[in-house]
Amino acid sequence: MQINVYGTAIEAAYAAADLIAERLYISPNIVLGLATGGTMESLYHHLVERHRRTGLSFRFATTFNLDEYIGLAPAHPASYRATMQRLLFDHTDIDPQRTHLPDGMSMNPDQEAVQYEAKIAEAGGIDLQLLGIGRNGHIAFNEPGTSFSSQTHVVTLDRSTQAANARFFLEGEAVPERAITMGISPILASREILLVVTGAEKRTAFSEAFLGQVNPQCPASVLQLHPNVMIYADRAAAIDVTSLNMASPNVGFDKICSRIGADNV
Ligand code: F6R
Repeated sequence: MQINVYGTAIEAAYAAADLIAERLYISPNIVLGLATGGTMESLYHHLVERHRRTGLSFRFATTFNLDEYIGLAPAHPASYRATMQRLLFDHTDIDPQRTHLPDGMSMNPDQEAVQYEAKIAEAGGIDLQLLGIGRNGHIAFNEPGTSFSSQTHVVTLDRSTQAANARFFLEGEAVPERAITMGISPILASREILLVVTGAEKRTAFSEAFLGQVNPQCPASVLQLHPNVMIYADRAAAIDVTSLNMASPNVGFDKICSRIGADNV
């Protein structure tokens, strides 16, 4: 596991975007697992910029998003489909046919979850999975307590997750209670995982995930078991990990790279 710590959230997100761009240059037909949420906004902004400035092409890439709310039509501005269109898909040369999200309007969400996972398998699995982390340690919408062997499934969102995501909805508008999410098992099956963690409000989740034991109460802790995880964090989120590393440099991570100078960590 490699942890890259940056001074600001934007720097961390831009560096993570650069890594995605690099993978795209090397493997134009890459299968990308994508995430939504506030953390990803500047990352997608940077990818769009690179597409405009340098011609970075998404034409042959295939994408699968982690999750979608149940009951939100794709046109609803807070749906993850609309979010991805607005932040990334509409501004690049990606082939719309190769962009996938679970269908939150399916009459049979359980069946949709199974079919979604089958589509990922048909595409050959995920090469690079982008992840954020919830304040409660969730990855995708796998809330605390989710089994590590979970497949793609229907989930009831924690109240805290609904509250955290209310900012993406109009004032007074209800945040959906349910979603379809990739399970922990298919996430772990990704060949590489790129986790972006920024902001002081993620400090506790980040520390629990990577300084504590692997524990289903903190779903992100399962990433300790994956052989190929890269973390891009800002100082505010990573402060406990970086201070521990300075106090005892051999804490079990392959590498902690500070991009902000050791004096500032
Ligand atoms: C979204 C997703 C979630 C978010 C997490 C962090 O597709 O899978 O796990 O990554 O809730 O969200 P933000 O970045 O808004 O704090």
